[in-house]
Amino acid sequence: MKGILLAGGSGTRLHPMTLAASKQLLPVYDKPMVYYPLSTLMLAGIRDIMIISTPEDLPQFRRLLGDGSRFGVRFAYAAQPSPDGIAQAFLIGRDWIAGEACALALGDNLIHGDHLSALLRNAASGQAGATVFAYQVRDPERYGVVSFDLDGNASEIVEKPATPTSNWAVTGLYFYDRQVTDIAARIRPSARGELEITDLNKVYLESGLLRVERLSRGYAWLDAGTPDSLLQAATFVQTIQSRTGMLVGCPEEVAFRMGFITADDLREQARHLGKTELGRVLLGLADGVFG
Ligand code: G1P
Repeated sequence: MKGILLAGGSGTRLHPMTLAASKQLLPVYDKPMVYYPLSTLMLAGIRDIMIISTPEDLPQFRRLLGDGSRFGVRFAYAAQPSPDGIAQAFLIGRDWIAGEACALALGDNLIHGDHLSALLRNAASGQAGATVFAYQVRDPERYGVVSFDLDGNASEIVEKPATPTSNWAVTGLYFYDRQVTDIAARIRPSARGELEITDLNKVYLESGLLRVERLSRGYAWLDAGTPDSLLQAATFVQTIQSRTGMLVGCPEEVAFRMGFITADDLREQARHLGKTELGRVLLGLADGVFG
């Protein structure tokens, strides 16, 4: 399975911070925002990852991430010239996806929780259809919202409803089978002129092929698209890391735990991080000092 990391858009809700910098490169505590969804894709076992961003920002992503070898993965890069919708990622990546199954992670989404890797690997295991994740939030009108029937099956998905019929938001992490590029090609722009990911999900829902995994309260799902949610995400990462000494959203750590890189590779990466706390924790991990 391949994976797309979508880090485009103009980040208008974070102006003026994003007037001269990509939203997904802003710091979330001690790492660039894009590290968090990158870690999620890697935890799913995905090693072929396409980074999509604006033509202006793409060089910065290349500078940060390189070819992926230091994380034991392969990066491809592609531009999204204008913010024409999340589902457009599958048209931009069509040749690269080459008819395989493909996951998509939004560059401002952070998911953290126990057994996340097992959940993600299951979603990436190549079953027919699509898997999305739902999470209960206080402000569902900001998101794609999924409702369930009395049997607990997903019955409806609506993008940013004015009056939501449930408080289950669809997170920015999607797993699709090999049909995804063909289905994306059939979607038409919405009233706001975008190829909506919710419309793509509706096609799977209407064919009875959409699995909606409800993330329980043991998980944290955060986005970082507004000043408040950016600060909340940073505080969350700082709280967990400084309390437990374990890392959140660190691709070097995930690469090591997933067996994508060796302890020596990890030591080398830790050295590049110099005297940072992050470097210290990674060295400890390579030396078997921490969990
Ligand atoms: C997008 C999707 C929405 C989803 C959200 C998750 O919204 O359109 O369905 O719930 O990501 O972060 P956006 O962040 O583009 O407003």
